[in-house]
Amino acid sequence: MEIRTFEFDSATYLDSLEIRDEVLRKPLGMSIYNDNLDMDRTDFHIGAFQNGKLVGSLILHPLPDGEIKMRQVAVRSQLQSLGIGKAMIAFAESFASEKSFSKMVLNARKVVLGFYEKHGYEAVGEEFLEVGIPHFKMKKQLAPNPEN
Ligand SMILES: CC(C)(COP(=O)(O)OP(=O)(O)OC[C@H]1O[C@@H](n2cnc3c(N)ncnc32)[C@H](O)[C@@H]1OP(=O)(O)O)[C@@H](O)C(=O)NCCC(=O)NCCS
Repeated sequence: MEIRTFEFDSATYLDSLEIRDEVLRKPLGMSIYNDNLDMDRTDFHIGAFQNGKLVGSLILHPLPDGEIKMRQVAVRSQLQSLGIGKAMIAFAESFASEKSFSKMVLNARKVVLGFYEKHGYEAVGEEFLEVGIPHFKMKKQLAPNPEN
């Protein structure tokens, strides 16, 4: 498996929209193609590839004060629970530290809190609704990049 960044407006970006639609929107009776995708243009896109084919993706959105938000974390349905999500998170954290971000934040669906907890994320604050389902804010302090 290869994990790497890819560009907005690439063929891979279109593949990522399809995965996001299948995994994050269709099960809720929604469509990614109705989302406002403006932020995608300037955010960082990270993908997991098997035999050159995109199998999972996530997005990093820079925030003020050294924070960066992980969003739209999705692994192709038939390929979940095989370590792809874990590998994408590890890549995203290294990528963010290299860019001198010190804290990763995210809005986790309640059903996957355990996935993020396993990777050192801590829930903060009260449960809230996003896309109609329960979420928690989570955060993780990133290890400083020794080269910075
Ligand atoms: C959540 C998701 C990204 C995880 O990716 P994945 O490739 O399936 O997970 P991995 O195989 O890398 O799992 C890594 C570890 O987390 C654990 N884990 C995975 N999903 C979990 C869950 N829902 N709850 C608790 N632990 C979980 C695994 O058991 C594994 O543990 P191990 O390292 O001890 O074996 C993926 O399942 C997915 O796309 N789910 C649907 C969309 C979604 O909910 N996205 C997150 C929105 S906030």
